[in-house]
Amino acid sequence: MKQFIQVKDVAHIDTLVQKALAYKANPLLDQEMGRGKRIGLLFLNPSLRTRLSTQVAAQNLGMEAIVFNVDKEGWALEFTEGAIMNGSTVEHIKDAAPVLGHYFDLLCIRTFPGLVDQVEDYSEKILNQFIQYSGIPIVSLESATLHPLQSLTDLITIQESMASTTSFNHKKPKVVLTWAPHIKAIPQCVANSFSEWMNAWGEADFVITHPKGYELATQFTDGATITHDQDAALKAADFVYVKNWSAYNAYGKILCTDHQWMMTNQKLALTNDAKIMHCLPVRRNVELSDEILDGPNSLVTQTASNRVWAAQAVLGEIIKTTGASF
Ligand code: CP
Repeated sequence: MKQFIQVKDVAHIDTLVQKALAYKANPLLDQEMGRGKRIGLLFLNPSLRTRLSTQVAAQNLGMEAIVFNVDKEGWALEFTEGAIMNGSTVEHIKDAAPVLGHYFDLLCIRTFPGLVDQVEDYSEKILNQFIQYSGIPIVSLESATLHPLQSLTDLITIQESMASTTSFNHKKPKVVLTWAPHIKAIPQCVANSFSEWMNAWGEADFVITHPKGYELATQFTDGATITHDQDAALKAADFVYVKNWSAYNAYGKILCTDHQWMMTNQKLALTNDAKIMHCLPVRRNVELSDEILDGPNSLVTQTASNRVWAAQAVLGEIIKTTGASF
């Protein structure tokens, strides 16, 4: 693996999942692998889980991890080619990224979409310039359109949960991604990425349900069953992934605030005693009810803890492939 920004960067999804579970069983399995390597974790936006789990993962592999909150501590970066920089930006990415490429063996970036200009966001303008100008392997810690470390973690957790029961013998799980309400306009990244990974994995009966107007980009959802009937989608579901996203077509808009879309125990009763997932952070009693989050069907804490093993598997594969330095 030379970089990790989308599912296509992974040669064998199930092999990567098994690698992550091997690290979960033995966190220091490859503690010498990254010795002498330095990883930069750059945050242009906030994070709790991604920041800390990736740091822990890097340290488990013997790497030195340095976190840089670009949004708070760095110079304001310019990403537009040919910009006349007489405004608020101080340093062009063409100048900053090569410097980072000399300080680090591997660079991880978190950057959110602006949710104003769909074309700009979906071109991954910021992430692609780090790839273009840094000259070292790049790992996405969530970009304008995708959150691959989260999706790998989600798949690890689904497989782990399936392995803990005999009820899936030779049966594909029914996995439902359901839209949920939110008070703010939220990126499509997690929903895009979950859809992309579920479709690439191909071992689930994958259904997406959302109100009219919340259609995601088909490049990620093609292969899934899509319905506006949440109750029908939830019927016999084994896993329910709850997530809000803002509209893709009416880009960045909130079109629905109907609290009937919130996941509750009443809706859980429609499922096959489904496990409930959410990437966190979650707005309690807006997206998901307390009773679900605090109940026995919730996988949210287990999922968040698995972020370490997903990151460790990805960093390990990149070190193995590239030596993590050019
Ligand atoms: N799920 C997730 O990415 O959490 P953070 O935003 O806290 O990193």
